[in-house]
Amino acid sequence: MTGISSPDPLKFAFTVKSAPHAGRGGSHPLNLTPQQWQTWWTSPTSATQRALYIHLPFCRKRCSFCNFFENGSNPARISHYVDELSKQLYIASKTPFVQSGTFDTVYVGGGTPTDMQASEIAIIGEAIQAFPLAKDAEITLEGRINGFTHAKFNAALCSGFNRFSFGVQSFDTQVRLAAGRFDDRETLIERLQELSEHPSATIVADLIFGLPGQTMEIWQQDLQDVIQSGVHGVDLYQLIGLQGTRLSQQAEKKATNKQKQQTLAPAVDSQTRASMYAAGASLLESSNWQRLSSCHWRQDKRERSIYNSLAKSGIEILPFGAGAGGNIHGHGIMNARDLSHWHQAQSQATDTSIATDTLPSQVPGMIMSPNPSAALDSQFKAGLDSGVLALANFDTELVSHLMPLFSAWKTHGLVKISGKIMTQTLAGRFWNVNLQTGLFAYLKQNPFESCAIVAANKTP
Ligand SMILES: C[S@@+](CC[C@H](N)C(=O)[O-])C[C@H]1O[C@@H](n2cnc3c(N)ncnc32)[C@H](O)[C@@H]1O
Ligand code: SF4
Repeated sequence: MTGISSPDPLKFAFTVKSAPHAGRGGSHPLNLTPQQWQTWWTSPTSATQRALYIHLPFCRKRCSFCNFFENGSNPARISHYVDELSKQLYIASKTPFVQSGTFDTVYVGGGTPTDMQASEIAIIGEAIQAFPLAKDAEITLEGRINGFTHAKFNAALCSGFNRFSFGVQSFDTQVRLAAGRFDDRETLIERLQELSEHPSATIVADLIFGLPGQTMEIWQQDLQDVIQSGVHGVDLYQLIGLQGTRLSQQAEKKATNKQKQQTLAPAVDSQTRASMYAAGASLLESSNWQRLSSCHWRQDKRERSIYNSLAKSGIEILPFGAGAGGNIHGHGIMNARDLSHWHQAQSQATDTSIATDTLPSQVPGMIMSPNPSAALDSQFKAGLDSGVLALANFDTELVSHLMPLFSAWKTHGLVKISGKIMTQTLAGRFWNVNLQTGLFAYLKQNPFESCAIVAANKTP
């Protein structure tokens, strides 16, 4: 949890990124009765900031590094899903719960939502407009450049989308081919340039560093390319070895079958990934890109990244669709991924005494009890993700309680502490998920009794 002492903490403070995201328990699964579900949708929210998350679980191809693939992009399947999903959105939009507070941000993610037809993008966009949206709400459509036609872009803009997040991963044609991506470098750059010229739409690209075959030289070129593409924001994600991906299966095979080793592309080691992160941060910042979080930069103020920053702050997020996750009235929700079960739930009335046309369907999945330390945990996560933790926002006794951990981070070159501000170094930003995980492990080993009260009192 503290990292280790090293003259080069960027490369050696930890051996590996602990997990894609940090979190700690504190809540347990609940069985929500149909009556409680109804009460949720008829009671006003107490949240001051809210988001909608809408999941489109379809991709045309399974990429080697990703485990978000759920269902193939079959046009009839997508069309059926969009019909049901939009019905649910309209029903939900009229409920007292939804109407009781505005939504600051909406994220239509996946999967690959840009695999929808233009008309389907418009159906979802229009359904979103039925919600009470904040005046300048950020409405994001996620996807990929391949197949994102002019017609789709226009349909999205006309139905209210104002931000587009494209997974690029790498511009290098060979690296892309090996990862199972479609377009070549030139096509990608040209289309991103075209889209980014729009006077108001925000265009964002995701890059991954550490992909097989992606040398430091190729990564430097990826960074140059993303700058040249004119996009307004960029995410630099370290490759995480996710279970169930083609890459992790290859790695397992490699461990068990030495003879086949030579046929596999070499994995990029953790130290090289650290250098890649440093190269990315350095090039973007010296090119006047502004860092918004440990892994996200913008070159144009139109990029606000509201969903990503608010989601980490633990705000209320209403989830729609198979595989969508969120948080309603303080309860974590994870809708099950199975598409046929999700469709079944739409057609079955869960309880005949409840009018299902005024209530969104309760779909299979997991509902968690409210986490007593949720507000505090979110404050820590959001702060460490941003690279700055304002210690003044926390109870002084809690800060003293955590000081042995913070001091170890400081000794290990991960943070600097100046008065009431703890700022992460470049190494601390690279290892920020390990710091979050470490902080929660520290609190588990050394409980601070009044955590929940402190969070409640200090949350703005
Ligand atoms: C849910 S995916 C959707 C992307 C979109 N469907 C596409 O094809 O580009 C969102 C982002 O997660 C990131 N991602 C997926 N797998 C990852 C992994 N193993 N390590 C790091 N980032 C990953 C990628 O950068 C991707 O753009
Ligand atoms: S990167 Fe996108 S297209 Fe590829 S498997 Fe993941 S979600 Fe699907």
